[in-house]
Amino acid sequence: MAEFHSKIKTIEWVDNYSKMVDQTLLPERFEYVNIKTGQEMFDAIKTMIVRGAPAIGVAGAHGVVLYAQELEKENLNRDEFVKKLLQKADYIATSRPTAVNLMWAVKKQKEVITNSKSDIKGIVQELKQNGIKLENEDIEINKKIGDYGAQVVPKGATILTHCNAGALATVGYGTALGVVRSAFANDPTIKVFADETRPRQQGARITTLELTMDGIPTTLITDGMCSYFMKKGMINMVVVGADRIAANGDAANKIGTYTVAIAAKYHNVPFYVAAPLSTIDTSISSGEDIVIEERSREEVTHINGKIICAPDVNIINPGFDVTPHELITGIITEKGILRPDYKKSIAEVKA
Ligand code: MRU
Repeated sequence: MAEFHSKIKTIEWVDNYSKMVDQTLLPERFEYVNIKTGQEMFDAIKTMIVRGAPAIGVAGAHGVVLYAQELEKENLNRDEFVKKLLQKADYIATSRPTAVNLMWAVKKQKEVITNSKSDIKGIVQELKQNGIKLENEDIEINKKIGDYGAQVVPKGATILTHCNAGALATVGYGTALGVVRSAFANDPTIKVFADETRPRQQGARITTLELTMDGIPTTLITDGMCSYFMKKGMINMVVVGADRIAANGDAANKIGTYTVAIAAKYHNVPFYVAAPLSTIDTSISSGEDIVIEERSREEVTHINGKIICAPDVNIINPGFDVTPHELITGIITEKGILRPDYKKSIAEVKA
């Protein structure tokens, strides 16, 4: 079967709009949606039409271009244009709170705006070029992450992953699934166990789809099963993505990742986090400072529109948890694999 990751771009700038895979429809339907205004982009990020830290970073960058195109039509003078655009950029950055790639990419666009010497038309062009550059760089970075990560995948390994840190969480290729793809290219005996990842089931709906389309043997398990299979010796390593990594190596990822990391430590299974350097936020010293998104009760009370619990039951629904750095064997980046002491290795690589 044709390779999924080389066929699609999760998000792509086309002429004067952003085209993205609508991830809320997967796996039943594979459809693109064209996002033509800044507010549409804000809503697409918030409602998770586009999701996954690197993908929403690029979405944020495209959102700034969309707002710039709208403001260009308002006959503002340059100073007013810049002031309003910077406000819109800050607004886009609030569409989701945990994945720092969003704030990082919007900041990159804000730098383009403030450093530009061009007129309004020129600023819009520069923002467009930078959005496309961030888009293309993402795939290159993921391939480097994949190649570094493949070096630590044991021959014939079964790799457990949680959530979706694949082509669909990035522009293409993926971070954690980039490691799987690069390892599989060298060793076709590699297998994957994918956690379902409640409540939104990104593992079931998205990870199993993109891996099986690439012909990579994949077994879907529910979230509570990981320690059972680790005890049986059926999982040789864990690789997950990240939404934000603090200066000490604490890593936020989809809720349930922390549980997997504890189980991995107990069973002596190596636990790796794969992420671009843009996911490392050195402005925060530890995971304590990572804002955890609270999501709707319906994500927990319902599956596919059907209620699965007593209607009045209490619900708490944090979207992410933080895996403490002492549970992480290595952080796989485009500049190599960072090892403990993370305070030191992160400071060196981010210098
Ligand atoms: O809520 P989501 O689906 O955006 O969360 C995604 C994850 O937690 C991913 O594992 C993470 O963003 C890494 S993606 C390369």
